Amino acid sequence: MRTFSDRALAIQPTGVRKMFDLAGDDVISFGLGEPDFQPPKVAIEAFYQAMLDGKNKYTTTAGLPVLREKIAQSWDEYQTGMNAENVCITMSGTNALLNLFLTLVNPGANVLLPEPYFPLYGPDVSISGGEAKYYPCKFEHEFIPQTDELEKLVDENTVAILYNFPSNPTGGTLNQEQRDSLLEFARKHDLWIITDEVYDRIVFEGKHVSFMGTGYEKVLLVNSFSKTFAMTGWRIGYIISTNLEAMKQIIKMQYYITACSNEAMQYAVLEAMEKASDYPDIVAEEFRQRCDLIVDRLNSMPGVQCHKPKGAIYVFPKVEVEGMTSEELALELLKDGVLCSPGSAFGPSGEGHLRFAYTISRDEISRGMDKVEETLKRLNVK
Ligand SMILES: Cc1ncc(COP(=O)(O)O)c(C=O)c1O
Repeated sequence: MRTFSDRALAIQPTGVRKMFDLAGDDVISFGLGEPDFQPPKVAIEAFYQAMLDGKNKYTTTAGLPVLREKIAQSWDEYQTGMNAENVCITMSGTNALLNLFLTLVNPGANVLLPEPYFPLYGPDVSISGGEAKYYPCKFEHEFIPQTDELEKLVDENTVAILYNFPSNPTGGTLNQEQRDSLLEFARKHDLWIITDEVYDRIVFEGKHVSFMGTGYEKVLLVNSFSKTFAMTGWRIGYIISTNLEAMKQIIKMQYYITACSNEAMQYAVLEAMEKASDYPDIVAEEFRQRCDLIVDRLNSMPGVQCHKPKGAIYVFPKVEVEGMTSEELALELLKDGVLCSPGSAFGPSGEGHLRFAYTISRDEISRGMDKVEETLKRLNVK
């Protein structure tokens, strides 16, 4: 009997969505990693104007040269000398990730992925015919992977390692020394580095530490306008690399995925980069204040330990309630009107954690934390 492909049958819905689907409208939602802002007004106006001006057509697969050039320049302080050729516009970070796995992974190959993880990585690798191998990012190491753990996993079939800093779901961020040792590991084993830096502009201390500009020629960087310009619904991102040979393959692949991105939207993003270039900093400052608030509240509760993230829009506290899984605890919280994600939705080592996305106002965060506190009291957590 004809049925469905193995790849379709193998992938499962994510646990993040599962909670979301169970929630009513009246919950305080720490569920989805979606900023509660709107894109800059100049970008919305430019989008509309571009459509009126007839920019409703296909562009070249890699996107408008003028936008690609602008993106390349935006990386100047990390890596000079890049231009439009180094950039491929994609229809989101999600699209960029799938493109890279399809471009790099052969059947039988494996890719090293972080765990806890952004839930798309593993299924993307399996859709591409490869095997996902997970390396731990542990609470006791502030969610930074250790190279001795990576050494245990790598083998002759490993083609790439994915790094994600600042991280979803943990909020983990790298310092330069940690970045250098992760870079060295990849170099030693001749691995591609897929570096997912979609939260690069949402950092709270110092400058973002990137894998771009390190001189390693196998770095492929994924970025997105979803979080930094609050454009989640627009679906636009990009891949950038100094490796032009890789860019050729990536752009060829992109044609077969979406042909190109939306023309009017590319003009709108260009306008945002030109006329609202400080917008991501405004967003980051608001997230920094929310982060301070939620971490302080969580750490004041019995049974809760929370690192203070230096970036992204999530906290991933350890919350231990005897005899209860993180999913059961998230369901108890939901009964009391708070939606968050069980840590187990991000891999087995997420068990014992919850993920809170602080993508709501500070007032709502405070109200939500009052409820979390009440639930923990009701469950007799000491
Ligand atoms: C780590 C990470 N990478 C990539 C993405 C994809 O973002 P988008 O597809 O909206 O560009 C997300 C979204 O939540 C994310 O958290």
